[in-house]
Amino acid sequence: MAANNRANFGSKLGIILASAGSAVGLGNIWRFPYETGNHGGAAFILVYLGCVILLGLPIMISEFLIGRHSQASTGGAYSTLAPGTQWKWVGRIGVLTGFLILSYYSVVAGWTLEYILQAATNSFAGKSANDFIASFGAFSSNPWRPLVWLAVFLLATHFIVVKGVEKGIEKYSKLMMPALFVLLLILVVCAVTLPGANKGIEFLLAPDFSKVNGKVFLGAMGQAFFSLSLGMGCLGTYASYFGKNTNLAKTALSVSAIDTMVAILAGFIIFPAAFSVGIQPDTGPSLVFITLPNVFQQAFGGIPVLALILSVMFYVLLAVAAITSTISLHEVVTAYLHEQFKMTRKKAATFVTGSCIFLGIFCSLSLGKTKEYTLFGMGTFDLFDFATTKIMLPFGGLLISIFTGWYLSKKIVKEEITNQGTLKGSIYPYLIFILKYIAPVAISFILINELGFLE
Ligand code: TRP
Repeated sequence: MAANNRANFGSKLGIILASAGSAVGLGNIWRFPYETGNHGGAAFILVYLGCVILLGLPIMISEFLIGRHSQASTGGAYSTLAPGTQWKWVGRIGVLTGFLILSYYSVVAGWTLEYILQAATNSFAGKSANDFIASFGAFSSNPWRPLVWLAVFLLATHFIVVKGVEKGIEKYSKLMMPALFVLLLILVVCAVTLPGANKGIEFLLAPDFSKVNGKVFLGAMGQAFFSLSLGMGCLGTYASYFGKNTNLAKTALSVSAIDTMVAILAGFIIFPAAFSVGIQPDTGPSLVFITLPNVFQQAFGGIPVLALILSVMFYVLLAVAAITSTISLHEVVTAYLHEQFKMTRKKAATFVTGSCIFLGIFCSLSLGKTKEYTLFGMGTFDLFDFATTKIMLPFGGLLISIFTGWYLSKKIVKEEITNQGTLKGSIYPYLIFILKYIAPVAISFILINELGFLE
């Protein structure tokens, strides 16, 4: 897209919902619960909230101001703001990160399509928790079925990205995000009233600080970046479509609040349900796919039609939440190829879709057929997740905070925060302090500390 005729989002609500659409996705409903489960529950959530407030919010504001000021997608933003320097690598690493995330994320997004089909054909009826565990295992390790869904999901993303994002994303997000929210609330009520649900609530609310170690910090920090779509320029790219009057700090606050609320709500569905039917909280990536069908089964047991309708609706909304996220990832890589290599948008998008399907196949197969091929003890799926979420995104966040805190002229930062002096911008001094000192030190500390453990 040419810098001088960039499209804009139509309304303030549209801006918030489209950004929230990128942020809210499988990260909240699939990844957050299993990471919380893997890291012992409530204490992890507290560390996570700390990461959102102290690192997520300031870095989101940074990405916003970089994007809006440069009026460029992340691939070009740094060359615009820091011409002739090596800062362009922040954009390039971001594009690579987005590409890798899109590949494995689409595998899981594909699973949601399978579950729509299962829900719609009433295949959950009459099954026990163990049946769900077995059927998920059989499905995810099936050598071809998940691959078909992966391709379908990426092609759907492709179609929307090629059509032009702004109108599409904004329109969908406005409709679907509130619907998702309401449905989550209904499911929370169902889950917490299941027999034995209180153990799950305790798991979420009573922190056991003996479980906090370096891994918890790395996990929580990575999850915060992943869930808020930070560290690779995704929201920066969206911010280049923001209007001059958009209040960046307030928008960042709304997006982070919505994102965090959805994750916590997901926790209040998954854990009460898991404890109620005796599924271990540290089951890993399959957690949501084996606990939720139980909720649908039991909570609406009396009225099967209601159970069917709500479960179909849930997986449809989950797929929609996922696609508003995959669109944002796809858009970053497509815009980069389009702008830097002078490919047409369509060609660039086709290249991205094709290579992500290719890489996604390896990710998917690594959960079944090719399980025994590992690197650092991880299969392709786990390796992509680990490398992007726990290393590349925090590293990107580190560079973004240094760029805004130290490199970028304070005049630009202030102008963007105050919208050319029309807003008070009282957060400015705190923002600068965090970006200059707290974020770089905290992120480096956690990264250095934890990556040492890798050997
Ligand atoms: N935040 C999204 C989720 O929670 C995933 C996502 C979209 C993302 N764009 C991103 C993650 C950019 C990291 C970086 O599902």
